[in-house]
Amino acid sequence: MKLSGHTVLVTGGGAGVDMALAREFYHRNNQVIICGRNLERLDRAKQEMSNLEIMQCDLTKDDEIKSLVETLTDRFSQLSISVNNAGVQKNYKFTEIEPKTALAAIDREIMVNCNAVVKLSALCLPIANEVFEALKQNNYEIKVVKVKLLIWINRFLPKLAANILRRS
Ligand SMILES: NC(=O)c1ccc[n+]([C@@H]2O[C@H](COP(=O)([O-])OP(=O)(O)OC[C@H]3O[C@@H](n4cnc5c(N)ncnc54)[C@H](OP(=O)(O)O)[C@@H]3O)[C@@H](O)[C@H]2O)c1
Repeated sequence: MKLSGHTVLVTGGGAGVDMALAREFYHRNNQVIICGRNLERLDRAKQEMSNLEIMQCDLTKDDEIKSLVETLTDRFSQLSISVNNAGVQKNYKFTEIEPKTALAAIDREIMVNCNAVVKLSALCLPIANEVFEALKQNNYEIKVVKVKLLIWINRFLPKLAANILRRS
């Protein structure tokens, strides 16, 4: 799969695995957009990669997802890869914490790890359709399966995802 010349959204992107993936795409000559809640982190990433686009967005908030997609539609309608990597993974000891607090935290975790991925993908579909059409007309190969696979591998086995990117 050709991994340069794309417009790539990496959710999260300012820390950890997301930042590593954003960096890898960036250095392969892609237009990379990252998003997260912490503006300081996003700014730090931008200092390292000057052409990086940063967008502040809390993926647990519907209005912020919507506004992210509006900006993508207006400014990055060539979006062709979306890596849904923003995520949270915590351990809860139900015997040691107040159940109400734990349940609220679990809700937020599910919102980022699952709901946001579905919502963002659904809202990005019109952009994706436009890009797919343009690619088809130009006889480009579309490897949706591999991208999907990469996204899912990336959620659970980030090192493997980074290796796949390196080998592609
Ligand atoms: N590191 C590993 O070895 C490993 C192994 C297996 C699975 N994973 C999974 O891979 C994912 C990333 O792991 P990591 O170690 O890179 O975690 P990390 O360093 O904590 O990074 C998490 C990223 O997700 C973003 N994020 C969290 N909540 C968000 C929200 N509500 N809205 C927008 N962005 C949000 C954070 O940005 P902001 O804080 O700025 O919002 C940050 O960029 C996690 O889901 C983790 O469970 C990691």
